[in-house]
Amino acid sequence: MSNIKVGIIGFGTVGAGAYEVLRENADLIRSRVGASVAVKRIADLDVDSDRGVPVDKGLLTTNAEEIIDDPEIDVVVELIGGLTQAKEYILCAMEKGKHVVTANKALLAEYGHELYDMAERCGVNLEFEASVGGGIPIIGAMKGGLSANRFRNIMGILNGTSNYILTKMSRYYWPYEKVVKEAVELGYAEDPPTLDVDGTDAAHKLAILISLAYGSAVSFKDIYKEGITSLTPDDIRFAQEFGYCVKLLALARDRGEEVEARVHPVMIPQDHILANVNWAYNAIYLEGDFVGPNLYYGLGAGRRPTGSAVVSDIIELSRRIANKEKGLQPPLAHYGRERKSISIKPMKSLTMPYYFRFSAVDRPGVLSKISGVLGQHNISITSVIQKGREVNGPVPVVMLTHEACEENVMKAISVIDNMDVVTDKTILIRVDKGISDK
Ligand code: HSE
Repeated sequence: MSNIKVGIIGFGTVGAGAYEVLRENADLIRSRVGASVAVKRIADLDVDSDRGVPVDKGLLTTNAEEIIDDPEIDVVVELIGGLTQAKEYILCAMEKGKHVVTANKALLAEYGHELYDMAERCGVNLEFEASVGGGIPIIGAMKGGLSANRFRNIMGILNGTSNYILTKMSRYYWPYEKVVKEAVELGYAEDPPTLDVDGTDAAHKLAILISLAYGSAVSFKDIYKEGITSLTPDDIRFAQEFGYCVKLLALARDRGEEVEARVHPVMIPQDHILANVNWAYNAIYLEGDFVGPNLYYGLGAGRRPTGSAVVSDIIELSRRIANKEKGLQPPLAHYGRERKSISIKPMKSLTMPYYFRFSAVDRPGVLSKISGVLGQHNISITSVIQKGREVNGPVPVVMLTHEACEENVMKAISVIDNMDVVTDKTILIRVDKGISDK
C-alpha cells in the first residue's frame, strides 16, 4: 500500500484542525483512500505553542521551503492566510509538481485566475473546499453532483459572525454595538470584526462560488459590497412588521452575458428557507436549471469543521495519487481552454424592491414631498408606516416600493436627503423574493 505524504504550511486554528482529523481518523482515511496519508512536515513561525493536539516535535519546522522543496511530499497544504507569502508558496509548490490544498479565500478571490492558470500549466490540482462555508461541502457539490447544471441563482449566508450579530439583533432588538461587544467578549467575533461585518469576507467567498459556477475568475473589485454596521433594531423590527427577515446575503444570478453579484443586507420573506439559518451557521441556497433548488447548511468556521473540509481535499487528491490517475482536474471544473470571461452587471442597472426609512419632521405635507421625489424617479410605493408623534421633531417614515432601478433610487435618496424636512440620512435595505425570477 502506498503512502501519501503531506506537508502543512501554517499551524494555526485550521492547520491544527486538519492535523487533528488526519490523526484521529487515520484508519478511516486509509480505508477511504486505499493508501495511508501521513503528515511529513508542518511549517509555522511558532513551533512552541500548544495547539491542543499531540504532535511529534520532529514534524515541526519554521522553514516552509523544507516542505516545498521536499521531493517526497505529494500534497502541500497552505493555511497561513494572507496574500503575498501564501501566493508565493502555492506557485512554487505547483511549479515543483505538487498538488495544493488551500483555505485562503482572500487569495483565491483576488488572485485566483493566476493560481488556476498555473495549476493547469503545471498539470497539478488545486483544491479549496475550506475556502467557502467552512465544513459545508459546497465546492465539491458544485464541481460534482451539480455539475450538469447552469446555476441560475446562488444565495449564501457566508459569514457566520454577521449572521450571529443579525440573529441576536432580530431576537432581542439590541443595538449593533452592544451585540458586537458581547460577541467579541464571548469569542464569537474578532476584535474588531471589520472584514466580517463590512461584507468583505462574504464577497471573497462569493467570488469563489461565481468562478466555479461560471468557470471564470471574476474581478473581485467589481462585486458590490455593503456591510451590516448601519442596521438598527428599528429597521429589523419594521422589516418584521412587513413579513421579512434581514440577512447579510451574497447573491449571484445568471443574467446571460453578465452575472449579478453583490453582498449586502437583504430583506427576505420570513418563510424563505434562508430566513431560518441563524446564529453562526452558514447556508448556501442554489438553483440549477435541471436540479431545481438545493440547500447546504452547516458550520462555516471553527477548527473541526474547517479541518474536515481541508482533509476532504487531501483525501480526494490522495485517491488520485494512489490510483496513479493521469490528467488534470481543472480547478474551476471547467477546462481553461473552454473558459469564457464573464463580467459583473453594474449595480446601478439592477432592479428590485426597496425598503426606505426616512427621518422626517412630523408636519403636514412632508409625506407628499417625499413621495413626489420618488414618483419623479419612477419609484412606486407599495406600503407606508409612520410610527410615533413628535411635534416638529423627527419621526421615522418607512416605505416599501415596487421594483425600482438602483440608479434611480440613489438619485432620489440624494435629493430627499437634502430636503429641509428630512433630518437624517435615509436608511435603505434591498428586498429579495429569494427565487430566480428573470
Ligand atoms: N470569519 C468567518 C465568519 C469565518 O465569521 O464566518 C471564516 O471564513
